[in-house]
Amino acid sequence: MSAFPKIFVAGATGLLGGQIVQALLDQGAPVRALVRRGTGEEKKTALRGGGVELVEGDITDPAGQLAEAVGDAAIVISAVQGGPEVIVDGQANLVRAAEKAGAQRFIPSDFAFDLTKLDDGDNFMIDWRRQAATARAGTSLEVVSVLNGAFYEVMTGFMGLIDWQQGTLSHWGDPDQPLDLTSVNDTAAYTAAVALDPAATGTLRFAGEVMSMRQFHEAVERGSGRTLRLRHLGTADDLRVEIARQAALTRNPFDYVALQYQWCMVSGKAKFDSLDNARYPQVTPLPLTDFVHGTAPTP
Ligand SMILES: NC(=O)c1ccc[n+]([C@@H]2O[C@H](COP(=O)([O-])OP(=O)(O)OC[C@H]3O[C@@H](n4cnc5c(N)ncnc54)[C@H](OP(=O)(O)O)[C@@H]3O)[C@@H](O)[C@H]2O)c1
Repeated sequence: MSAFPKIFVAGATGLLGGQIVQALLDQGAPVRALVRRGTGEEKKTALRGGGVELVEGDITDPAGQLAEAVGDAAIVISAVQGGPEVIVDGQANLVRAAEKAGAQRFIPSDFAFDLTKLDDGDNFMIDWRRQAATARAGTSLEVVSVLNGAFYEVMTGFMGLIDWQQGTLSHWGDPDQPLDLTSVNDTAAYTAAVALDPAATGTLRFAGEVMSMRQFHEAVERGSGRTLRLRHLGTADDLRVEIARQAALTRNPFDYVALQYQWCMVSGKAKFDSLDNARYPQVTPLPLTDFVHGTAPTP
């Protein structure tokens, strides 16, 4: 029998959720994972092979049914991704189900920069996470939020900063503005540490690296062995104007969400004021240079 309480993970088939499950298993914690109906056998077999107990369901299922899925888990981690029906309504439903099941703690799918410092309209996907916090206000569960800045994977991929073919790294804002960055793997390790720490409370902030865009550029060059021309696209205020311009041209906000994420960071508005890394010295985050060394396309 494990020394740890059972942990229920929603979003276990996802990028971050899968690594959270692995980090929990590495610590010897018993894990029950929610998988949606129709999840492929390969994913289910991989989870089962790791020793995970699987339960079928959806966080938008009726709370009674979802409570049965949570079962005897004491801690519920949400690593789901989706629209407001998932992030706001679905997570509120999951909280109700966890209360019904008698769970004690809930870690929401926040995993971002300091969303507590942002205002409505700064980033619509972050707005949903703050709406989710409002929706669960008054819950009897202890809510612990894990924040990690931006994933290394996102900074070197989805954000669209690096163009390996053109040999450029393009950025907005002050090149000396510090940014909080963490790999998916280290975010998962911190999340597992928080989940297994009965004294963890409130909002905890972690970063694998705190570096400016200038330092990010140097680290990417060192890690990849490539020379990239640093292109300055404009100030943080110019970026805000560009976001408004793009918003006027499209009905799909996902067209410019990467720019909203960048603005929150390069403006300094969502910068962490302090870090909680020291609380978990057993987690030694990967330097960005090493991450890039292992993932950049070969020259
Ligand atoms: N800080 C950063 O740079 C950064 C970057 C990316 C993501 N994140 C955050 O990390 C978290 C996880 O994102 P991710 O990229 O790992 O997401 P992902 O890979 O898209 O995975 C999402 C997971 O949620 C599950 N899911 C979606 N809707 C569900 C529902 N109604 N019921 C149950 N499960 C549902 C999916 O299940 P299926 O497999 O069945 O679809 C999948 O397991 C999010 O909060 C996201 O914002 C942060």
